[in-house]
Amino acid sequence: MITKAIIPVAGLGTRMLPATKSIPKEMLPIVDKPIIQYIVNEAALAGIKEIILVTHSSKNAIENHFDRSFELESELEKRVKRQQLKEIKSICPPDIAIMHVRQGETKGLAHAISKAKPLVRGEPFAIILPDVMINQFKCDMRTDNLKEMIDRFNETGRSQIMVQPVQLSNISAYGVIDTGKAFRDKCFEGCIFNEKAYLESQEKSIPIVNLVEKPDADDAPSNLAIVGRYVVSDKIWDYLENTPLGVGDEIQFTDTLRLMCRDYPMDAVLIKGDSFDCGSKLGYMKAFVEYALNSRRFGADIAEFIRKSGLK
Ligand code: G1P
Repeated sequence: MITKAIIPVAGLGTRMLPATKSIPKEMLPIVDKPIIQYIVNEAALAGIKEIILVTHSSKNAIENHFDRSFELESELEKRVKRQQLKEIKSICPPDIAIMHVRQGETKGLAHAISKAKPLVRGEPFAIILPDVMINQFKCDMRTDNLKEMIDRFNETGRSQIMVQPVQLSNISAYGVIDTGKAFRDKCFEGCIFNEKAYLESQEKSIPIVNLVEKPDADDAPSNLAIVGRYVVSDKIWDYLENTPLGVGDEIQFTDTLRLMCRDYPMDAVLIKGDSFDCGSKLGYMKAFVEYALNSRRFGADIAEFIRKSGLK
């Protein structure tokens, strides 16, 4: 059973400056909720019960967001604002415990994850990168990406890494997987993933034989990029300890996975729906518009506004 998820939130959000000078990037709103609230809800829907935030001294607003605020609650009660009171009280999903551990120094994703080791206590776990929001509006709402990864892990015991095809011109922003020649021959054209061929091939999963963090387009083994969701076995700790400094002088989790996949086979899971890189300004703006358009309360008005402003 996977009941724990690590959410690394210690990053300084420099790509989102000046907005993130004194606000954690995870607290920026998408429609009416901060990004981190969507991420925690996603974990809860996938059956996660314990969330470990790997955090930084400048990120106290995140801890406060999931804590009770008695002053605010009693004020809303006094003013008989029932709906708002209900919303505020349910920010932290029921039965979810949120814990915090400090990263101290920013030395990369693998370093952040290793800080959570004492709280994970030798169990398999999920990792959710809060920069990546996954939109499932366009797909079957019963299909939850993280839940599917957890189910696959439970069936196979193999670690599961979520991937998405991206343009080769953008590949150097991602960790990238190599599926090996046999799978490539069936489901790729050159190094470009062919989703139609994959769906027709009856292959149940995408094998991973190697991973590279932020390769140049010329060196990328494929265009399948890692997009911020992982479910890993407890064997990962041995490899985390032995991961050397990588790209950007950081200890890269992709390198940890590369070391582990030599000993323990792992699979890639194709994302259902789209992902938004909310750690970048354009990705954040696109996510905001998409979520606004799909909002029950504001969707019709925003669609009308965009339609009209498009006609100007
Ligand atoms: C991180 C990971 C990378 C992954 C990306 C998107 O990079 O290191 O492998 O592809 O997130 O999920 P970052 O965006 O922090 O540079």
